[in-house]
Amino acid sequence: MQKIQIINGPNLNLLGRREPGIYGARSFEDYLKTLRQRYPNVQLDYYQSNHEGALIDKLHEVGFEANGIVLNAGAYTHTSVALHDAIRAIEAPVIEVHISNVHQREEFRHKSLISAACKGVICGFGLDSYRLAIEGLIGD
Ligand code: DQA
Repeated sequence: MQKIQIINGPNLNLLGRREPGIYGARSFEDYLKTLRQRYPNVQLDYYQSNHEGALIDKLHEVGFEANGIVLNAGAYTHTSVALHDAIRAIEAPVIEVHISNVHQREEFRHKSLISAACKGVICGFGLDSYRLAIEGLIGD
């Protein structure tokens, strides 16, 4: 069975309640149920942290055994050289995802420090960004 790790960064624990006009009204836990039903033959593991170092620890932990990683690094996307280095340090392909289209938003969201270390980038499709990333990984 293929194993895909989903990792959500800071403030994404509040999905469903946080700025619903941008991020939607659905919690990630609820969306995850739908994803798991859609991919019964894929082991979809989920981790969320608001802490940069904890996200790095998780990448190290799963990065040599998972078939792929779907990473929404939240605001750390725009600031973290350490996450860039962690993605480069592991073997599993990482897809960067964003729920919103960051390029339509504030200028500080236009720059990603992790994109160059990732296999691909998906943004702007709402929660469906995660499904599209999974499609990209399992199609490999
Ligand atoms: C986000 C976009 C980031 O700019 C923001 O800091 C987030 C969420 C998204 O999924 O659209 O926390 O990654």
